[in-house]
Amino acid sequence: MAYSAPMSSLSPLGSLSRRLAALDARSRRRILAPRAGVDFASNDYLGLASDPAIAAAIADAAARGVPAGAGGSRLLRGNAPEHEALEEKAARFFGAESALFFSSGFAANAALLATLPQPGDLIVADELIHASVHEGIRLTRAAHVLAAHNDAAAVEDAITGWRAGGGTGTVWIAIESVYSMDGDIAPLADLVAVVDRHGAVLIVDEAHGTGIMGAGGRGLSAPYEGRENIIALHTCGKAMGVEGALVTGAAIVKDYLVNRARGFIFSTAPSPLIAVAVGTAIDRIAAADDRRAALDDLRAHAGRAICVPLGLAAPVSPILPIILGTDRRAMAVAADLQAAGFDIRGIRPPTVPAGTARLRITLTLNITAADIDALAPALTAALAANSGAAHPGTAHPGVAA
Ligand SMILES: Cc1ncc(COP(=O)(O)O)c(C=O)c1O
Repeated sequence: MAYSAPMSSLSPLGSLSRRLAALDARSRRRILAPRAGVDFASNDYLGLASDPAIAAAIADAAARGVPAGAGGSRLLRGNAPEHEALEEKAARFFGAESALFFSSGFAANAALLATLPQPGDLIVADELIHASVHEGIRLTRAAHVLAAHNDAAAVEDAITGWRAGGGTGTVWIAIESVYSMDGDIAPLADLVAVVDRHGAVLIVDEAHGTGIMGAGGRGLSAPYEGRENIIALHTCGKAMGVEGALVTGAAIVKDYLVNRARGFIFSTAPSPLIAVAVGTAIDRIAAADDRRAALDDLRAHAGRAICVPLGLAAPVSPILPIILGTDRRAMAVAADLQAAGFDIRGIRPPTVPAGTARLRITLTLNITAADIDALAPALTAALAANSGAAHPGTAHPGVAA
């Protein structure tokens, strides 16, 4: 997609044009770029996005008359047997009392945070939590506070401080099991202990855990699912290779969301064909120990080939952030790597905190150890060619977070 031309100040859209120009001047303008190069950027960790069994499940369902469109909200005509079957299967698989299918993880997170916490409650969210949680927080009528990243003691301090100030409602803690832009892992056992001690609820976003972490790919929250105070969000568009999200938790949570989550109620239900695809994706991740082992091998290999030479710690997930500081430098290094045939994206604020623009390298089964070996010298060269914060090159606006 090309840049739109600047508009005259008389145009009713002139202010949009000026704001885009301001983003451009700060190396923050995004455009949609075509897919190109070796995949070091997708979240298709297990390579299931092009899985033949998932494609066949969609084709078979279409052939027996399952419709592409739900035709309405789940609360009206849109509630198809495929949605119900998927939710039953997901609840069983993840070990929860119930599951509710949303059309995306973004919609699900926004719904959870906007709907469950009530006026008089408190939300404590990790400071690096995903934008979709912030979206829900924008809509909530509960109080909210951000806690230091991956710091269970900071979460507990936030709760005790709020209680000391007279807070009496329910506390909802929002975290990710594997952080999307840092690839690090939450101290889940400590956080579960905090919610147990304080009568709070833990909402675990498993977007980057489902499929690749935990026994059978159930995510890192698997040992805790089924408890009343644990809600998990299993997105279906990353390791599961499809799209949508399954919220798992107590039956009353599902019941409440069905009654009160505006994004669920006032929206056409996801395609029944997609529900079928996600059901098959659950079977695929359940049987993917070999794929998880192969991904682990790639992670260990990337640790040796990429992280050690750069003096970085070994990765604990398939997400390797290489923090470069300025937006301009991150985008310039990403552009050089793209020119060398690697699909690597620069990630800028506000997706990540100011001053921490980075490359986000992901490992998936769409690549091999040889691809990592080819990337390592290209990365060293791109970093050397773009050293220093004040790189004078072009803004490289085509590389979007
Ligand atoms: C941590 C996290 N939560 C939620 C989402 C949103 O999920 P979806 O892509 O299904 O909308 C993402 C995707 O970027 C994510 O990384």
